[in-house]
Amino acid sequence: MAIILGIESSCDETSASICIDGEIQSNIIANQTVHEKFGGVVPELASRAHQQNIIPTVSEAIRVAKIQKNDIEAIAFTRGPGLLGSLLVGTSFAKAFALARNIPLIEVNHMQGHILAHFIEDPKPKFPFLCLTVSGGHTQIVLVKDYFEMELVGQTIDDAAGEAFDKTAKILGLPYPGGPLIDKLAKDGTPRFDFPEPQIKDFDFSFSGLKTSILYFVQKNTTLNPNFLKENMNDICASVQDRIISILLKKLKLAAHQLQITDVAIAGGVSANSGLRHALTALAEKEHWKVFIPKFEYCTDNAAMIAVAGYYKFLNQEFVSQEITPLARWSVNY
Ligand code: KG4
Ligand code: ZN
Repeated sequence: MAIILGIESSCDETSASICIDGEIQSNIIANQTVHEKFGGVVPELASRAHQQNIIPTVSEAIRVAKIQKNDIEAIAFTRGPGLLGSLLVGTSFAKAFALARNIPLIEVNHMQGHILAHFIEDPKPKFPFLCLTVSGGHTQIVLVKDYFEMELVGQTIDDAAGEAFDKTAKILGLPYPGGPLIDKLAKDGTPRFDFPEPQIKDFDFSFSGLKTSILYFVQKNTTLNPNFLKENMNDICASVQDRIISILLKKLKLAAHQLQITDVAIAGGVSANSGLRHALTALAEKEHWKVFIPKFEYCTDNAAMIAVAGYYKFLNQEFVSQEITPLARWSVNY
């Protein structure tokens, strides 16, 4: 039997999960609400909150999984990419736990973790497949050849898709994180405002121009009508969301055609977006793709994806030593 404890602390979620023989038994997530009023994650506050949350989160994951601390056979942790101070909390905890219990330590790349969330439940994709990974820090198209053999096909040259949602929310006076709120408001809106589509080469993305055009659009219209935002909020959200989705899916389609791949997945926090989920499902039907969309709880940051990635590394006996340190930057195709 393989009982793995997974730890995730790369950004503003402290999470712990127990995986037994590849099956997730618990996935506890402590959200940090402290950042809401700042319009983004404050790194210093995030690491302090991780420090407070990590022990209770791990204890709860062990309790829910109905195991004892002594049953755990290996500990997998997010080594990066992410905020260094946040990663340090999870990494230090994992090292101390492994040392104290004399069990192996397993490093997991956070972006590989997002992709491997597709192996938590059935149906699981078959290799090779294409994954659009869209989160607060990354926007990537990845060719997934095996559990830990991934090739970066395209990525954002500036902001990530999640950042585009969050920065738009800030411009619109909405709290952080903006993605879920824009998603909700867009449901009651019509995408009648046209925002420009960037012209970027190959399979790369850009979202910074969109952010600037939204800022100018809001400034111009609120000068003419101080109530413009209040009167048009739902339609603005629907228009911005529509444009972000069209940018993402255009490149995904291009990459799928070029690489002749018909198994397509999405992962990361933005894959929780209902508009994106619908649009991808519709596109997949048209393109005859087999599509994989994670359950909501496995889209945003969670330790279940780290525990399951840890399980596959455990099977390969891929362990790391106590000298390991976190990596703020770490490519998906390492
Ligand atoms: O993967 P994730 O939890 O953390 C990172 O690794 O960055 O992604 C967080 C991002 C945030 O930018 C958040 O606004 C976005 O995912 N997000 C969404 C939705 N839920 C979360 N964006 C659009 N629609 C959503 N429903
Ligand atoms: Zn993430």
